[in-house]
Amino acid sequence: MSNVVTIAVDGPAGAGKSTVVRRVAEALNLLYLDTGAMYRAATVGMYDQGIDPDDAAAIAAWCTHRAIDFDAHGAVRLDGNVVDPQRLRSPETTAEIWRIANNAACRAHLVNLQQGIVQGRGAALEGRDATTVICPEATLKVYLDASPEERARRRLAQWSGDGALAPDFASLVEDLRLRDERDRTRASGALQCADDAVPLLTDGLSVDQVVARIIALAVQRRPMVLEACVQDAVIVGRSRQSGYVRVAQGSIADPPAPWQLGLSNPSPDRQPSCTTSMTRNSGGRQAGILCQGKAVLVLGGKEAHPAWPMAMPMLPQTWYVIEPHVWHAVVQAPGTICAWAEASTISEERSPLSEYHQDILASYFQVYFPQ
Ligand code: DC
Repeated sequence: MSNVVTIAVDGPAGAGKSTVVRRVAEALNLLYLDTGAMYRAATVGMYDQGIDPDDAAAIAAWCTHRAIDFDAHGAVRLDGNVVDPQRLRSPETTAEIWRIANNAACRAHLVNLQQGIVQGRGAALEGRDATTVICPEATLKVYLDASPEERARRRLAQWSGDGALAPDFASLVEDLRLRDERDRTRASGALQCADDAVPLLTDGLSVDQVVARIIALAVQRRPMVLEACVQDAVIVGRSRQSGYVRVAQGSIADPPAPWQLGLSNPSPDRQPSCTTSMTRNSGGRQAGILCQGKAVLVLGGKEAHPAWPMAMPMLPQTWYVIEPHVWHAVVQAPGTICAWAEASTISEERSPLSEYHQDILASYFQVYFPQ
């Protein structure tokens, strides 16, 4: 199994893919690839070059010789020149993309470029054929969906222009349905939910919740991705067993030493039937995951005493939450959070869980403890 983590996300227009996948990539320190931007860049270039938009052969002949990539800031480039982002996302461009996207030769060329970009690198990519054509072997595949009505509502909520010029709800829904139809019925690279993709309907979910759920799914498949997200995500797990968890202390900013996973659930030797653990001893990093459908994800970092991970009791029915700056906390009853002090004693002080934390916890629970 390759160590490279690839998260591929497909879904219809307006499902929130770019926002969510960009955030997942940041959290897990992965390269973010917006494949739609490449189709958009090709469409803008095609018009600038005066290619006859009705001549599929001419479009293919032009497009298949284009270099399309991203600069260091993530701006898409066509033959080395950054494409104006306004034009990239304009309704005029959006309406014409199908001329590139439905052209099999153009698709083959773009897929080739996209595979070259993610080859051998940890990446989170999104589009229409990321899970089926570009990265069929991805570590995690997600099909992100939302009803046309929900997507139209989000579009309107994000409308930044003159209110009077905002599109009306019904025509937005209609427009999305038309784009869905085009995306789902094209001869090659059609949008579909891959058999092994996790369908994620985002109606009613916040961006934070969707991001948390995708991270949790990635961690289920590859526990070591925790190593990256310990810095900026809340990680949660639960044990049904009593025992001990080893922890290492951590701090993000000071000292700047990289955080390490320093925890593990009860060792497989002690509870062989319920635990698998993934251990990478070099560098003293460990990550553990408890099976039986109930995950324990506990992790920490190192600070002054990296060689001395602490032991703390892992109580039955205890929820563990790790987050940056608070670094270790335990939820012992719904709605309460009990901060785990650096001295590894449970603080007597309890404070209510913030709405944000409840949101994030709910997302993790959805993944780890589905009804
Ligand atoms: O994700 P987006 O809205 O920026 O994508 C723009 C269009 O590009 C979309 O309507 C379909 C097409 N596309 C595609 O065919 N395959 C991809 N992998 C990404 C986008």
